[in-house]
Amino acid sequence: MSKKGFSIASLSHKYIMAAAGAFLMLFLVMHLATNLLLIAGDGGIKFGEAVDFLLTNPLIKVMEYVLFAGFIIHILLGVIIEMHNRRSRPVGYHVSIKSGTSTFSKFMIHSGIIIFIFLLLHLYHFFFVKLGLVPLYGGAQEGHEFYPMVVHVFKNPLMVAIYLVSFIVLGFHLKHAFHSAFQSFGLNHDKYMPAIKAVGTIYAIAIALGFSVIPLYFYFIY
Ligand code: HEM
Repeated sequence: MSKKGFSIASLSHKYIMAAAGAFLMLFLVMHLATNLLLIAGDGGIKFGEAVDFLLTNPLIKVMEYVLFAGFIIHILLGVIIEMHNRRSRPVGYHVSIKSGTSTFSKFMIHSGIIIFIFLLLHLYHFFFVKLGLVPLYGGAQEGHEFYPMVVHVFKNPLMVAIYLVSFIVLGFHLKHAFHSAFQSFGLNHDKYMPAIKAVGTIYAIAIALGFSVIPLYFYFIY
């Protein structure tokens, strides 16, 4: 492929990746809102109702496929863009500080890999149980009875630590991802960038802290 051909392709890669990323950022808000019902102190009644609603809603069923497609597209394009960037870096390129890219952005592929590994563990804990691929545990009677499974997972200090570290890494990933998505769409006006970055930081902290409250609640308080 010609150089121009590749740069047009990588430009559309960036758009698609940013669009998938923006969709995943919205998913995280919805997912956090549902999961915060776990700590309502009612033994999981409200959370169970929300899960039942989501399970019986045909639109959500469709969204689940869209969600997984979003994850796969985002991950694959992330790897492709990283490989392309590595190839186009001059040989002996060591002076990363002078490149103008922040430490966070260089950390994106690494944080992405950590989040991917977390996701595999996380799907094993809940989603694969719902699909019947992993046996029921924690006293759950059905694959979608997640509350006792959550209690079981977060009584294990190792799991609490793995989840908390993953949420911190996720927070850093999101902090950069938020303004980076705006840049990919060409919405990076100098005047608005500081505000966009500030909103991104607030979003990233809210997501990381919001999710972290859940394992901490089950480990220390429940
Ligand atoms: C303490 C924090 C979290 C808890 C308690 C939690 C809980 C759950 C539960 C119970 C499910 C199964 C829902 C179902 O299949 O109907 C699920 C699914 C899922 N979770 Fe989480 N989650 C947490 C954090 C996260 C984070 C940070 C991410 C992304 C980085 C994530 C991504 C997913 C995905 C992709 C699914 C499968 C799709 C779905 O069923 O919605 N979760 N989670």
